[in-house]
Amino acid sequence: MEKGALSQEEPREVGLLHAMIGRKAIMAISGVVLFGYVVGHLLGNLQVFLGRERINAYAAFLHATPSLLWGTRAILLASVVFHVMSAVQLARLSSAARPVGYHARGTIQASWSSRTMLWSGAAIALFVVYHLLHQTVGTAHPDFRPGDVYSNLVVGFRQVPSSIAYIAALVLLGMHLRHGGWAMVFSLGFARGGSFRGWRRFVFAFTVVLILGYISIPLAVMAGLVG
Ligand code: HEM
Repeated sequence: MEKGALSQEEPREVGLLHAMIGRKAIMAISGVVLFGYVVGHLLGNLQVFLGRERINAYAAFLHATPSLLWGTRAILLASVVFHVMSAVQLARLSSAARPVGYHARGTIQASWSSRTMLWSGAAIALFVVYHLLHQTVGTAHPDFRPGDVYSNLVVGFRQVPSSIAYIAALVLLGMHLRHGGWAMVFSLGFARGGSFRGWRRFVFAFTVVLILGYISIPLAVMAGLVG
């Protein structure tokens, strides 16, 4: 009897599991691409500490190479679409898979953290829209000068409310990356056996350095060290 009951349950569970593994892989791969962009973007932005000529020349180089600019934009956009789609699908699958009984506790925890990830992800998306209007399009900037990235950053971050919004969004991004980084390490199968702790520490340390690197820019402008 029990055997029959199990074999009826199994196909649905296995199907859900396969669907979840597939979505997690898409989520992890698109997450790696976005993470790579965030690292590269920081390295580019840190050139603000080397002076106006340096960062403006870097921006001019990027804009003078349309294949690089539009290629990066296309890959970024596709990664954002895949990342958001798989996040929403995973949240649905995880609530469809929520069983009763001895699995309940772990599943409730998992869906709590994935819901937190959905909210922080949505907040980061809103930040990126504001950021594009602020630093790329210029409509949310007090004195936007096309091509003068240095001036756009300095004038933009001298506005304290804007800098605070950036710092808050960056802290949220750090939390998102830390949790996402751990999940990615699992999804892509890096954290096996004893390496789990090491990966956890690495992801945490990397995220802290990354976010502090970004936050140093508005802080340096507000402190008068840049500008
Ligand atoms: C303090 C933090 C940040 C600073 C100072 C900064 C600076 C900039 C600047 C100056 C631009 C315009 C570059 C140009 O037009 O040549 C830009 C564009 C952009 N930023 Fe940031 N950024 C920061 C954080 C972020 C974060 C955290 C993300 C992603 C989560 C991000 C995503 C983008 C994107 C997608 C663009 C548009 C790139 C393009 O034109 O194709 N930025 N950023």
